[in-house]
Amino acid sequence: MKKLLIITLLVLVGIQFIPMNVPAEVPTKAEDELQAPEDVMAVLKRSCFDCHSNHTKFPWYSNIAPASWFTKMHVKEGREHMNFSTWASYDDEKKLKYLEKIPKAIKSKMPLPSYLLIHQDAKLSDADKELLTKWASEAAFDLE
Ligand code: HEC
Repeated sequence: MKKLLIITLLVLVGIQFIPMNVPAEVPTKAEDELQAPEDVMAVLKRSCFDCHSNHTKFPWYSNIAPASWFTKMHVKEGREHMNFSTWASYDDEKKLKYLEKIPKAIKSKMPLPSYLLIHQDAKLSDADKELLTKWASEAAFDLE
């Protein structure tokens, strides 16, 4: 029993050294950041920026493996899929693709349910969803 406890402890300490390098802040060119009306930006910053921008506020447990792995993987993946901090550098085709995906994404899976468990303030209200949907369709219209 004692041996098992010690082994578990050693494993838990050991995994802290497995690196997962996803920085909270990535240097970003100001001109690459998404430009959107203030109310839209407020919702995006509150609910999406932790995973879809170069400005992530990591929670305290993101320093502790294995919780850190999931958190950082989500941020890494989120940024790779769509990054509002490099938005202006995307070509129109790519912007359109995302603008068309956003209304569908926020209806079901975004922000990720596991994230909402801890970040309840990030949950989108019906008004937030309407605002984002309207913005996305108008921004898409402007591009076309
Ligand atoms: C906890 C991290 C996290 C948060 C917060 C989050 N996302 Fe995501 N998002 C992801 C990940 C990971 C993916 C890629 C995997 C997937 O599609 O499930 C993704 C994918 C997407 C996609 C699809 C992109 C593509 O390439 O197909 C859209 C659109 C999207 N998110 C929109 C949003 C919006 C809008 C918000 C805020 C309301 C948001 N997400 C909040 C992690 C997050």
